[in-house]
Amino acid sequence: MVKPKILAFAGSTRSDSFNKKLVKIAASGAKDAGADVTVIDLRDFTMPLYDGDLEQKEGLPSNARKLKDLMISHHGFLISSPEYNSSISGVLKNTIDWTSRPTEGEPPLACFQGKVAGLMSASPGALGGLRGLVHVRSILGNIGVLVTPHQVAISKAHEAFDADGALKDKKQEDQVKKVGIDVAHLLAKLVS
Ligand code: FNR
Repeated sequence: MVKPKILAFAGSTRSDSFNKKLVKIAASGAKDAGADVTVIDLRDFTMPLYDGDLEQKEGLPSNARKLKDLMISHHGFLISSPEYNSSISGVLKNTIDWTSRPTEGEPPLACFQGKVAGLMSASPGALGGLRGLVHVRSILGNIGVLVTPHQVAISKAHEAFDADGALKDKKQEDQVKKVGIDVAHLLAKLVS
């Protein structure tokens, strides 16, 4: 039996990011549900802003290539996306833009097509980043990712976590874990 492999990351590079905390909770849910989960920090994959001239001259930036390989080697994703001006963060969009670019010898959208993703967000605001998730879901759907229906947006994020990074509200914690559990369970059916 193939064990599902899930890559988990936040669309924020901030060291004290609420979304990074959320990703870890969802990752623990996915692990409990039997998946192998790799949690990464996009700060370790910093890449320039997408530029068609740069791409033509030098190809994919080395960190985009590294991340693409990592994504290809996983069956699915857990993504916690901050909401910037009612939409996806620049970091996350730029990451998707570079890694979605075609490479000779690879199928189109090699790291996205046929993958499964679970989404979540956290924000100090009242909507928890929910408006941004609408856009993230749409972007991923358009590049061939099956996004699971259950998603969570944590509002008042500056008050929501305890000192260990867990959500103070046990029900919320369980809802975030369920994002990971759902992706792990669906992948278990798809990859076995
Ligand atoms: C924000 N933030 C924000 N929050 C929100 O709920 N809706 C929004 O539209 C925006 N817009 C926005 C734009 C920009 C440029 C920044 C920098 C921030 C606040 C944002 O949710 C907050 O900074 C979070 O803490 C970001 O996520 P991390 O870094 O904590 O994961």
